[in-house]
Amino acid sequence: MFARSATRSLNNARQFSSSAARQTKVAVLGAGGGIGQPLSLLLKQNRLVTSLNLYDIRGAPGVAADVSHIDTPSEVNGYPADQLDQALEGVKVVVIPAGVPRKPGMTRDDLFNTNASIVRDLASAVARVSPEAHLLIISNPVNSTVPIVSEVFKKAGVYDPRRIFGITTLDVVRASRFLSGITGTDPKDCNVPVVGGHSGATIVPLLSHVAHGKGLKGESYEKLVHRIQFGGDEVVKAKDGAGSATLSMAYAGAKFTDALLRGLSGEKGVITPTFVKSPLYADKGIEYFSSLVELGVNGVEKINPVGPLSAEEEKLLEACLPDLKKNIEKGKAFVA
Ligand code: NAI
Repeated sequence: MFARSATRSLNNARQFSSSAARQTKVAVLGAGGGIGQPLSLLLKQNRLVTSLNLYDIRGAPGVAADVSHIDTPSEVNGYPADQLDQALEGVKVVVIPAGVPRKPGMTRDDLFNTNASIVRDLASAVARVSPEAHLLIISNPVNSTVPIVSEVFKKAGVYDPRRIFGITTLDVVRASRFLSGITGTDPKDCNVPVVGGHSGATIVPLLSHVAHGKGLKGESYEKLVHRIQFGGDEVVKAKDGAGSATLSMAYAGAKFTDALLRGLSGEKGVITPTFVKSPLYADKGIEYFSSLVELGVNGVEKINPVGPLSAEEEKLLEACLPDLKKNIEKGKAFVA
C-alpha cells in the first residue's frame, strides 16, 4: 500500500496544492510506544505531512532524532514529558496512541481505568493549545475514549464533531486480509465495511457488501466474523504479555491519517469507516457509531448509513448496540 499510497499522496499533493496541504503539521502523542514508533516512521514517509511533532512521557526525542534521518522533506521534532504544549503548537492533526495496551485475558474495557485519564489530559491540552486540530484516537477502549475526548472539547467550548475520529481501521484491514485469505483473492478486492464500534461484539463486519464475502455461509461465515471481532486477541496471545498489535496498528493508523490528509487537502471521494459522532442510531441513545464516512476539507463531510443488512448482520448489529451504548456512557460519565 505504501509504495502506491506514497505515489498517490505525492500526486495528490501536487494536484491539491493549497497552502494548507503544503503546511500540514501532524503530532503523535505516545510516539515512543509500540504503536507510536512505527506509526511515526510511516508518517515520515507520507508526503502530505510537512512537519511531524513526536511527544511521549518517555523517549520521544530519541525516536524523533532517529526518524528525522529518513530522506523525505518533512521536519521532525521530539518533545519530552514537560513540553506537551510546544508539541501541539500549530498542529493540524493529532494522532493519539498513548496509553497502556492489553495483556492476555484482558478486554479493551479493562484498560479504561488507566487510559481514560491519559486521553482526557491529552485532549484537554489539545483543546487549549490547538482547538482546531483533528484528533485521531487510537488509545483503547476507543468506544469510550472518543466520547471522553468529545466531552473534554465540549467543556472547553471548542467542540466540533467533524474533527474527532476513533480509529477502527485495523478492523477493516483485518477483515480484508482474513477474507482474502480464505477466498484466495487479493485483499484490495475485499474491502469489507466494518461498522459499529471497536471491541468484540461491537465490531460488525458487513461481508454481504463485498462480492467475495457474500457467498460465505454457516460455519465458515461464523468463524470469519469471530476472527474479525477477536483478531486482536490472537496478537495479544502470541505476544504473551508483551503487548497487543503494534505494527499492524501503526499501518492502519498511517492508512487512516493518509485518508484524512487527502480529504483535508481537497481530494473528493475519500470514504472509510471511522467511529464518530453519528446520527445513525441516535434514536436508540447511541451518539457515536462507526460507518463509512466521507472525509473532506472540514474532516467529516458525510456519514453514510450502514445500508442493507443480511439476516446474520441484523443479529450482529442487535448484539453490538447495547454494548456500544454502555461503553459510550461510561466514557461520558468519566468526564462529567
Ligand atoms: P505502549 O505501552 O507500547 O506505548 C504507549 C506509549 O504511551 C508509551 O510510550 C508511553 O510512555 C506513552 N504514554 C503513556 N502515558 C502518556 C501520556 N500521558 N502522554 C504521552 N504518552 C504517554 O502501547 P501500544 O502497544 O503502543 O498501545 C497504545 C494504545 O493503543 C493502547 O491503549 C492500545 O490498547 C491501543 N491500541 C489500539 C488499537 C486500535 O485498533 N485502535 C489497536 C492496538 C492497540
